[in-house]
Amino acid sequence: MCGIVAYFGKKPAQSVLIEGLKRLEYRGYDSAGVAFLTNNRFSIYKTAGRISNLEDILPAADPEMTVGIGHTRWATHGEPNTVNAHPHLDYTGKIALVHNGIIENYATLKKWLIKEGCPFTSQTDTEVVANLIGYFYERNHTLDGRNAPANCNRFEWAVQQALQEIYGTYGLAILCSDCPGVLIGVKRGSPLILGVGKNEFILASDAAAIVEHTTQAVYLSDNEMVSVSENGFSTKTISNEAVQSELKAIEISLDQIELEGFDHYMQKEIAEQPKAIETCLNGRIDLKNGRVILGGLQNYWRELPRTKKIILTACGTAWHAGLVGEFLFEQLCRIPSEVEYASEFRYRNPVIDEGTLVIAISQSGETADTLAAVELARERGACVLGIVNVVGSSIARLTDAGVYLRVGPEIGVASTKAFTAQTAVLAMLAIELGRRRHLSSDYASSLLRELTQIPQKISRILEQNEHIRQIAQANADKENWLFLGRGFNYPVALEGALKLKEISYIHAEGLPAAEMKHGPIALITDRMPAVFIAPRCSQYEKLIGNIEEVRARGGRTIVIATEGDEDIRTYADHLITVPAAAEQLLPMLTVVPLQLLAYHAAVLRGHDVDKPRNLAKSVTVE
Ligand code: G6P
Repeated sequence: MCGIVAYFGKKPAQSVLIEGLKRLEYRGYDSAGVAFLTNNRFSIYKTAGRISNLEDILPAADPEMTVGIGHTRWATHGEPNTVNAHPHLDYTGKIALVHNGIIENYATLKKWLIKEGCPFTSQTDTEVVANLIGYFYERNHTLDGRNAPANCNRFEWAVQQALQEIYGTYGLAILCSDCPGVLIGVKRGSPLILGVGKNEFILASDAAAIVEHTTQAVYLSDNEMVSVSENGFSTKTISNEAVQSELKAIEISLDQIELEGFDHYMQKEIAEQPKAIETCLNGRIDLKNGRVILGGLQNYWRELPRTKKIILTACGTAWHAGLVGEFLFEQLCRIPSEVEYASEFRYRNPVIDEGTLVIAISQSGETADTLAAVELARERGACVLGIVNVVGSSIARLTDAGVYLRVGPEIGVASTKAFTAQTAVLAMLAIELGRRRHLSSDYASSLLRELTQIPQKISRILEQNEHIRQIAQANADKENWLFLGRGFNYPVALEGALKLKEISYIHAEGLPAAEMKHGPIALITDRMPAVFIAPRCSQYEKLIGNIEEVRARGGRTIVIATEGDEDIRTYADHLITVPAAAEQLLPMLTVVPLQLLAYHAAVLRGHDVDKPRNLAKSVTVE
């Protein structure tokens, strides 16, 4: 979590940093700060709360201040107050830095530094890095007493020395008041990109903070360090080996990260789904032969059909997509499959043997738990595929091969278009894998034809926006909700409950509908709406039975049903319809009304939909 941005150029740094931080606010928003370096002096402004709070305490932008670093925080070590907000200064006051990540051995280092006479002022792990760099900079010799080489840049050398002692993850932007002509960026485990413009450089956690200024960037790799100066930039490893860096084009555009007339990013991203799924499917489907073309996997098709077991691993919404994937692979490929929470998977000593395929699903490609699960799976020799949205992200780079979602940036903290696209990619993957095992061309073609119709079917659901808003209005005062589904719609029940919890702070539970009678039915009252996902599918009759059980006990029902299903009307206090579709593809449709229900409930309850309390979009800590 946390977003960092740094500017080195000719413009006043303040506006670049503030605009950049606003673009990164999805990564954390409990406190923020900036530091500018002019005439060998730092000017630092920090505050608890949002970037708008920071703007309130900033003076008018000074055109002389053309170098600076900024940070938006999601607290891990130390409460979100002004002292713990970044940037942090070292004890000498010469080093200032911003940090995204976690320093795992900070407690040991802190104890040692205090003993060495370096005082601390905050509770953060980050201050250890600042003090450690300050320590080496001031002493100018290594821990075993060797002097810094005479011809080296002492600031760079001190950073390198400090990072040799640190375990954990970091994206860092660092300034030294003795060297106002140098900005240093370093990365391990957290993303860091250097935007390279004309006479200016922007270092940031995400291209969203850069694209307004330049579309050329260097995506730093782990253990790489970049030094920016008036003469340009140079990259090396933290152990001082030379690195050849490559300039790449940033693939997102400015309009993709603007609200474009919507009130919230979540609202925009829900509405974008028809277009997003179309782009996701574009050029990947060969209807005539019932085949799927996934460029990233072309070298793997010889071995994939021999897969004996599939493990899908992910967190949050991506895990729910993974559960849909489990059902798809089992049904269409007849390969035993299981979805695992990434955070649990790696500590379970999982059985991975020859023939195990691991699929990591992640919108951001930076989720620390999923990244760690990928590392473990690779160590154990599994073939690891990634289903990722953010191009060039850590998971995309670490996996053997993969499929990009191609849905553009997702900024709303509650994931929406990424879920539908993850499910679309999993469907394509399962159909092609099934096809290479036993699925007939006719059956695969019919499923793929249905898949191509999903975008316009989502558009039809979106037309019910006002109707869904009214249902949300009628129920937004209820503090507990149930979401119930069976088969392919069970993951959707989980996702519907998660969406509601995340942004409206209503307690919600998602359950397989039949499990309700084994306990949760005791909760049913007319104060607890039960949302049934009950489109026409193989378990339709059974679902009707479950709805009856709730109604018999005075429960109120919101039913998601197939268009034209008149029979179900009598069971619904509120009815929302979705177009008919193949059962395996229904999650891409049935989830949409639940996204809208959660969105409207949150707006009606007066919450900040895009920045729900305590959450961050990209969870880069374990
Ligand atoms: C966070 C977000 C969720 C997201 C999850 C996994 O918890 O709030 O919306 O589903 O991380 O993120 P990923 O980027 O790996 O899909």
